[in-house]
Amino acid sequence: MHKRNTIATAALIAALMPMFVLLPADRAAANMHGAAGGAQMEGGQMGPVLMMPSMNAARGRKLFASKGCVVCHSINGVGGKDAPALDASTMRGPMNPFEFAARMWRGAEAMIYMQQEELGEQIDLTGDDLSDIIAFVHDPEEQKKFSEADIPEQVRELMKHIEESEEGEDEAEHRSNAPKE
Ligand code: HEC
Repeated sequence: MHKRNTIATAALIAALMPMFVLLPADRAAANMHGAAGGAQMEGGQMGPVLMMPSMNAARGRKLFASKGCVVCHSINGVGGKDAPALDASTMRGPMNPFEFAARMWRGAEAMIYMQQEELGEQIDLTGDDLSDIIAFVHDPEEQKKFSEADIPEQVRELMKHIEESEEGEDEAEHRSNAPKE
């Protein structure tokens, strides 16, 4: 009898283990952002566990610029005008991160076409990148800090290049629209 109880308790502890490992918020954040990242999860020990990633708006501010979202979308008045601005004031509350992903999904066809045109390729994002960007687009305080200084040189060059070629197109259009004599 005593032995069976011990076995049952051990089984119960084993079954609950993954939850104890995952529950502390800091630990979860470390899992998501640590260098080992997904590898730990793929080790198979924890099995499939649904978990909200940590959402880091400050990192998202950097990614919004370095990943190139800023080429087409603006925040705090900084960025391209070819796609809707993504200021927090335009986000519907209360915040649902999946709603933002769904909006990206709806805009995906136009967005990917344009990314291939303007950036030469489709932007590649990990789940962590996206969760940080989503934190940033919903964080008005972090957005106030967003400035040209966040845009890496390479992306800035690209934006300048696109702007110049668009000005060129406008001029060409003007000329072709000019009444012929
Ligand atoms: C090359 C231009 C370009 C880049 C770069 C780009 N987008 Fe877009 N984005 C678009 C276009 C075009 C649309 C579609 C707008 C429409 O359908 O009206 C769009 C739509 C969206 C939408 C839906 C907007 C809405 O009003 O519902 C979201 C959200 C979005 N993009 C987020 C992002 C994020 C985050 C990044 C960076 C990871 C990014 N975009 C990079 C061009 C771009």
